[in-house]
Amino acid sequence: MGITELGFYREVVKFISIGAAFGWHERNAGNISLWLLPEEVASASPCFDETRPPRKLARAVPEMDGEYVFTTATGSYFTDMDETSFCICRVCGGGSGYRVVWGAEKPTSELCGHLLSLAAFKRAGDGRRAVYHCHPADLVVLTNVLPLEDKSFTTALWSALTECPFVFPRGVGVVPFRIPGSPELADATAELIPERDAVIWAFHGLFASGTSIKDAFGVAHTVAKAAEIRLKIISSGREPLNAPSLEELEQTAGYFGKKLNTFD
Ligand code: 13P
Ligand code: ZN
Repeated sequence: MGITELGFYREVVKFISIGAAFGWHERNAGNISLWLLPEEVASASPCFDETRPPRKLARAVPEMDGEYVFTTATGSYFTDMDETSFCICRVCGGGSGYRVVWGAEKPTSELCGHLLSLAAFKRAGDGRRAVYHCHPADLVVLTNVLPLEDKSFTTALWSALTECPFVFPRGVGVVPFRIPGSPELADATAELIPERDAVIWAFHGLFASGTSIKDAFGVAHTVAKAAEIRLKIISSGREPLNAPSLEELEQTAGYFGKKLNTFD
């Protein structure tokens, strides 16, 4: 069976197509990563070529040594995808580099941020193994008008929509301006993501995590919807008469077995 027929490939294509229809992926905007399970590696491995030359990573990920990660190719348009838009990388050299074992030669320019984040999930053993990066316009607008501070940004989103407290109870982290694809952006993201469900990149977009691509997409969708609502509230020019209290948000999370991040 070819890789394009496998479940993980089809799931990624399905969700990035939806993201593209939402307008989250202008030109080559966005990228994803999925740390493959042993059974996914087993089903894909007949297609692997382990002889391509290794490349060095700007940041080492020793925890990920030997692991396989499915990701998008740099420059690929999510509005116009095919097999050449993806690759599978195997981390090698004790985590100092990677080798493309299938697909496009060059993975996403944000590979470092993805791998550092996946390494953090592995270290924590918290079940997360996927990242969905996109550019939702309303969220980017909010980074121009709200303080770039985790707790207040998270509260502005949680209180916009009652689903938020249990979809992203860890909240969001906010990274100020960093050059896209830079190791500095990767470092700042990896520092926040262990304690957050998603990281917002000011003037750029969203980096959402999950236990699967579907789950990470669900976090991104909910954050983007909350951002749309918050921006509409701000744009209405009216002082809100009503808003859920922090206690009500905590109760909502608790009702679904989740605990809200207190940002202490
Ligand atoms: P890539 O095409 O390299 O994945 O970059 C897109 C992007 O959104 C950078 O943040
Ligand atoms: Zn981007």
